[in-house]
Amino acid sequence: VPLHLPWIDAIGELKRQRGAVIMAHSYQSPEIFHGVADVTGDSLALAQAAADCDSELIVLCGVHFMAESAKILAPGKTVLIPDPDAGCSLAASITADDVRALRAQHPGIPVVSYVNTSAAVKAESDACCTSANAAQVVEAIAAEFGTGKVIFLPDRYLGAWVAQQTGVELVLWNGQCEVHEKFTAIEARHTRERFDAKIVAHPECPPDVLAEADFVGSTSAMGRWLAQEKPARVAMITECSMADNLRNQFPQVEFIKPCNLCPHMKRITLPNIHACLRELRHEVTVPDDIARRARTALQRMLAVGR
Ligand code: 13P
Ligand code: SF4
Repeated sequence: VPLHLPWIDAIGELKRQRGAVIMAHSYQSPEIFHGVADVTGDSLALAQAAADCDSELIVLCGVHFMAESAKILAPGKTVLIPDPDAGCSLAASITADDVRALRAQHPGIPVVSYVNTSAAVKAESDACCTSANAAQVVEAIAAEFGTGKVIFLPDRYLGAWVAQQTGVELVLWNGQCEVHEKFTAIEARHTRERFDAKIVAHPECPPDVLAEADFVGSTSAMGRWLAQEKPARVAMITECSMADNLRNQFPQVEFIKPCNLCPHMKRITLPNIHACLRELRHEVTVPDDIARRARTALQRMLAVGR
């Protein structure tokens, strides 16, 4: 931490001068999450914070689709991302043309897209969801459209899990998170048996990994589960910074590996946050027509809540 202090102080000073708000996803490194962020949370919490934000300038420490969502929900604000190349394998797996083709194949079936998609894909969707409210959004949209079938994209593992929770028939896309798809059931079982640890897994993991878990839940649900269950030892089968950032909050819990790093989230650093505030770069923009249609899908998600 001492190495980071000069950057943290300098960012704090620039942030005050600019009147900026720094929002950081739970997968950001602890020096960002604890050191410089004003708002922290999962992708749903960040979208809600952007929609309610008072500041004219938002610095989004997360990946590009999160900054786009912030811009869509706060169209009058300036949204900056410290590294515009912070992508996501899920967002990269599907285009707006793919969504139009799916609709043509399944006429009349509504589309729910995970927020881990581009603004152009959101614009083609009836509603968005995050892992925190995917089941609730799918049920709400199925009821609204009076159908037992929904097109759910792009994460096939999250989709399979949501289908199990809801009983709604889902048409899935072949997208995966490159971080969560790497976990294996053997590794999870070994961790439980060898370390007597509870296994908590994100629903972006493959189904055989989820079958080994004591709890499956989104980024925010994992924190609530820990507060309730207070396990002696736990393995968070998700991005490594989750455990790093929760350690302070749960000093009595021992966090065990495995975990995987998201190379996209890790593109955001204290130096590039500083440069972002100093030079007011890199501004995120979304064409008006796409933003308007994507906003409707995002607002439907916010109306469902958690
Ligand atoms: P949330 O749990 O915040 O939706 O995030 C999952 C994820 O992989 C974000 O990229
Ligand atoms: Fe995308 Fe996976 Fe990284 Fe999240 S963890 S940003 S889903 S690649």
